[in-house]
Amino acid sequence: MSLPCVDGSVEKGEELRIAIVGCGDVGLVTGACLAVVGHHVTCVDNDGERICALAEGRACTHEPHLGEIVAAAQRTGQLEFTTDHTEIIRRVEAVFICAEVSLLENGESDLSAIDSVARVIGGARNGPSLVITKSTLPVGTCQKLQHALEIYGRATGAKCAVACNPEFLREGNAVCDFLHPDRIVVGVDETSVAEKMRQIYLPILGGKLQCPVHRGSCPAGAPPQFVVTSTISAELVKPASNSFLALKISYANQLAELCERLGADVEEVTRAMGLDPRIGSRFLHAGIGYGGYFFPKRIEAFYLLAERAGVHFNLLKEVERINRERVDRFMEKAKQALWVLKRKQVGVLGLSFKPHTEDTHSSPAIEILGRLLAEGSIVRAYDPQAMDAARAKFPTVTYCHDAYGVASGAEAILVLTEWPEFLLLDWGRVRELMARPLVCDGRNLLNPNKMMELGFEYHSIGRPR
Ligand code: UGA
Repeated sequence: MSLPCVDGSVEKGEELRIAIVGCGDVGLVTGACLAVVGHHVTCVDNDGERICALAEGRACTHEPHLGEIVAAAQRTGQLEFTTDHTEIIRRVEAVFICAEVSLLENGESDLSAIDSVARVIGGARNGPSLVITKSTLPVGTCQKLQHALEIYGRATGAKCAVACNPEFLREGNAVCDFLHPDRIVVGVDETSVAEKMRQIYLPILGGKLQCPVHRGSCPAGAPPQFVVTSTISAELVKPASNSFLALKISYANQLAELCERLGADVEEVTRAMGLDPRIGSRFLHAGIGYGGYFFPKRIEAFYLLAERAGVHFNLLKEVERINRERVDRFMEKAKQALWVLKRKQVGVLGLSFKPHTEDTHSSPAIEILGRLLAEGSIVRAYDPQAMDAARAKFPTVTYCHDAYGVASGAEAILVLTEWPEFLLLDWGRVRELMARPLVCDGRNLLNPNKMMELGFEYHSIGRPR
């Protein structure tokens, strides 16, 4: 049976036996994608229920298209699941560590699962020759892991090298990000290890895979760059990249505030700025700020890492401060337009931290929802995916079947997540349903001129009214 992403033009290379430790989304995406490009992969996790569900073809993930490729790789026998770490780790050539580590009470990461993997590898004379850290672990983990492997391998003579291979997967786009990355970063302390990593990624490095997400017309451009660094440098790439992206967003948001004061349009300014390839247009969209499970947490962790190394990375504190203030500024805007929020019916469109996900972790939309309720507003809300998560936190809100339900009788609508479907609404109908045609757009999703033509009082971020 052929694999869904690989046709005759893809250089497949040697099939390797690979174990993936940790079956969260990062582990599952890594395992399924490496399997569909032709390796034999076994995913292992302590969570027996999850492994059982995965083995039975119930993918336990909301990541788009991941279920499909897991099923396809299972059908061809390239992907298996187990709870038996010891047995599997000893039988493979390479182990990817994809476990998300939790924090201990003293604020340090609990690396016991990684220590256990090192112990199993060290105890096997003919075990894997390579262990790769994929999930985001504290900087310096690779060196400690290498040391542990040497100690545990003394009795058996086991030899295993360590590589760091950070992931840059975005929620909601992880499968495409894995199969069509911009770069594959490999941190190694010996050159022969880099060669082995190149073998693992050979089918992806050619840039010719069919994309199961975009059905062969993936927007990905050139084949990925294969970047070899030291392990410590590779460990820094992920937090440094995340922090820089956050910095770009906060820059755009602060600029938006300036544009408002001066009567300029932040969208015009950032569009022109972004045409300079040294700057680039992505992650320069002003709005109510960044959120999500990972972004805020990683920036904080990066700041603390720098502090511990004696570097005061205060720039990152500014990035966080600017981001926190977005919700305050947006609430001020809504209040200015509505005067009093108490007992006013306010409609909320969007609850997730970004579109195409049900995730509401650190979502600015959820923060705003909480503030509206605290002010005494009567809130009706709609989100294509995130209503269950919001309902658990704010049960008193009326959750509607669609945006028109939100609009009915509303004195204002707040657009808080840039779901494309909000762009396609019949805004003329929305206006007719509303008690007062007022829209505060926290994501600059809508066109101000069109909204005004339709008779709305329209406010957005950093754009003239
Ligand atoms: C982010 C990174 O993009 C991934 O590369 C990384 O692997 C991941 O974190 C991680 O640390 O594991 P993700 O959290 O899925 O991925 O979210 P993004 O798509 O990066 O968006 C982050 C936030 O920034 C969202 O709230 C989004 O609305 C906001 N954003 C993004 C803006 O406010 N403006 C922009 O121009 C772009």
